[in-house]
Amino acid sequence: MQVVIAESTTQVGLLAARKVAQVIRRRADAVIGLATGSSPLAIYAELARQVAEGELDCSTLRAFALDEYVGLPPGHPESYRQVIQREVVEPLRLTPGLVHVPDGSAADVAAACTAYEQKLAQTGPVDIQILGIGSNGHIGFNEPTSSFASRTRIKTLAPKTRADNARFFSSLDEVPIHCLTQGLATILDARELVLVAQGAKKAEAVAKMVEGPVTSMCPGSALQFHPNATVIIDADAASRL
Ligand code: GLP
Repeated sequence: MQVVIAESTTQVGLLAARKVAQVIRRRADAVIGLATGSSPLAIYAELARQVAEGELDCSTLRAFALDEYVGLPPGHPESYRQVIQREVVEPLRLTPGLVHVPDGSAADVAAACTAYEQKLAQTGPVDIQILGIGSNGHIGFNEPTSSFASRTRIKTLAPKTRADNARFFSSLDEVPIHCLTQGLATILDARELVLVAQGAKKAEAVAKMVEGPVTSMCPGSALQFHPNATVIIDADAASRL
């Protein structure tokens, strides 16, 4: 695992965007793994700038989101399908039909998870997977105790994650209890991983992920198994290393 402590919080997004852009320039139909949350927003903003200025073309990219809430009505602004549409598909001018998000409103969620894994297997491997990390060490929505062998499946959100994500909803009660998430094994299938974290709230999770033992209590520590993982963080997120 390569750890890059960026000179500033702004640099975190710029350095990670550079890595993603390199992959896209190498192959116009690259497969990109998308993360939601606030951490990767600066990456998407920089890629969108490059697209707007004609430096980058994302129209033939294929993309897979990591996760989705279960039970939000389709079209809910905080469903990850809508977040990806707003933060990634529109600004980067991706082709919507080439962008996949687990179906959290499927009548049969187990079948939706299997179908997602099949689609990934047909299309993948993912060339570069963008990741953030939860304050409890989760990646995607793989909460502590997630198996390293896990594939896309339904999970119960940890109370800590629901509390952290309540800021996107009008109350804690509105935050879904369940989610669909790519598993840790699914994520590790990507050719390259780039994880970004900013701020002191992530310092403990970052330290456990980078320097702690590999343990299901810190799902991010699974990155220690990956041959091509880069963690890009600011000084506050690095403060416990
Ligand atoms: C969210 C997402 C993760 C994300 C993490 C951190 O709930 N499911 O993919 O990395 O939690 O979010 P943030 O970047 O907003 O701190």
